[in-house]
Amino acid sequence: MPTIAIIGAQWGDEGKGKIVDYLAQKMDFVVRFNGGPNAGHTVLNEYGKFQLHLVPAGIFNRKVISIIGNGVAIDPEILIKEIKELKKKGISFRNLKISDKAHVILPWHILLDEWQEKERRLKQIGTTRRGIGPAFSDKVGRFGLRAGDFLNEKDFKEKLFASYNRAKNFLKPEKISFDFILKKIFCFGKYLLPYITQTEFILWEAISKKKNILLEGAQGTLLDVDFGTYPNVTSSSCTLASASQGSGIPTKEIDEVMDVVKAYTTRVGAEGQAFPTEMPAKIASPLREKAGEYGATTGRPRRCGWLDTFLLKYAAKINGFTSLAITRLDCLTGFEKLKICSGYKTKKGKTLSFEEFSISKLKEYQPVYLELPGWKEFPTACRKFSDFPKEVQIYLRKIEELVAVPIKLISFGPEREKTLQK
Ligand code: GDP
Ligand code: IMO
Ligand code: MG
Repeated sequence: MPTIAIIGAQWGDEGKGKIVDYLAQKMDFVVRFNGGPNAGHTVLNEYGKFQLHLVPAGIFNRKVISIIGNGVAIDPEILIKEIKELKKKGISFRNLKISDKAHVILPWHILLDEWQEKERRLKQIGTTRRGIGPAFSDKVGRFGLRAGDFLNEKDFKEKLFASYNRAKNFLKPEKISFDFILKKIFCFGKYLLPYITQTEFILWEAISKKKNILLEGAQGTLLDVDFGTYPNVTSSSCTLASASQGSGIPTKEIDEVMDVVKAYTTRVGAEGQAFPTEMPAKIASPLREKAGEYGATTGRPRRCGWLDTFLLKYAAKINGFTSLAITRLDCLTGFEKLKICSGYKTKKGKTLSFEEFSISKLKEYQPVYLELPGWKEFPTACRKFSDFPKEVQIYLRKIEELVAVPIKLISFGPEREKTLQK
């Protein structure tokens, strides 16, 4: 059985949590490999409804080993809160492992995130205020603290003090006392200690034993720090390459790349960021309400737009998708006509070839739409492709044709059972 990477194809919130929870039932390992508590992965299963920020969505399966990989930035306070809440619902954490190389988000990273956003004035990113940018900056700046540092109390204190002193240049020290933070963070560290290990070794052994491994991506390709809509992106990588870098699994061992695609497009962040297929408010608002398009982490309303297959083609190139998982098809029920963006025009009306496209110029492009018939109702139980209304089948076939990648999973409700393998 293969190693499968689950990657968000758009601006995040595609339904990765649901797809990972569905596939995890047949897995031996589930590995979160990027981002941090900026992620909000919703899972609805027999235990209830959960919004996971750091815990891998494989945790609901007792036999699955859930790994928080080295590519993740961990806020210990958020992680411990999440663990405690899940434990209360009967979820076992016997099989959780945390990479000793995962970086730790410190309280000043969160303050810095807020401060940096204010400094950007009219050019705010609209971050989740979870300290992501400053924590990953410290990682590449080689100032970061890692989960493995919790293993040595003296070293930890020294490193934390150095980090605190650096942060003092930016922050009012009276706001935050070092001794208080040290005590608090060290308590968190003690709690997490039993889970911390060299997770890459566990994964290398798993590969040699041909175990089933699912790599759970956070965010989405268009939020990738290199290939996304920079600077309005997150601070870690979200493409396939990060699945390897953030877990220690060699790229050649990843057999399948499944990109999760919402049947339309959403984006959350500051106002005015590029979004060519954004719907006018009179269409977007009812869809947002009906579909509950509000951020799982921050509760912010998500901007809604039509499906953009031009951007999906771009994401397919970067990630080398081998298959697509389409989610939230049911949310498009009731539209008389559906639009799909198949290409772009420049402001002067020139049709853009794929080679001429630049993600940095996204704001300059206007979408070219195809119109497809909508569907009035969505059957609650669909066991095979032919159970879907004819119009749904047409919509899906058009996506496959335009993106040139086969659809393997179709999701038509938040619950596990509302998933069909094509
Ligand atoms: P993620 O960050 O990619 O895991 O996605 P989020 O959890 O932030 O947002 C996806 C939302 O869509 C969640 O509320 C899911 O429960 C919900 N969802 C996922 N798949 C479907 C689907 O096929 N239909 C409906 N109606 N909701 C879905
Ligand atoms: P999941 O895994 C949607 C967005 C933020 C902001 C930008 C930078 O649930 O799909 P950051 O806090 O990372 O510095 O914010 O990225 N963003 C997400 N949007 N889903 C996510 O994760 C996101 N993680 C970050 O809204 O625009
Ligand atoms: Mg989300």
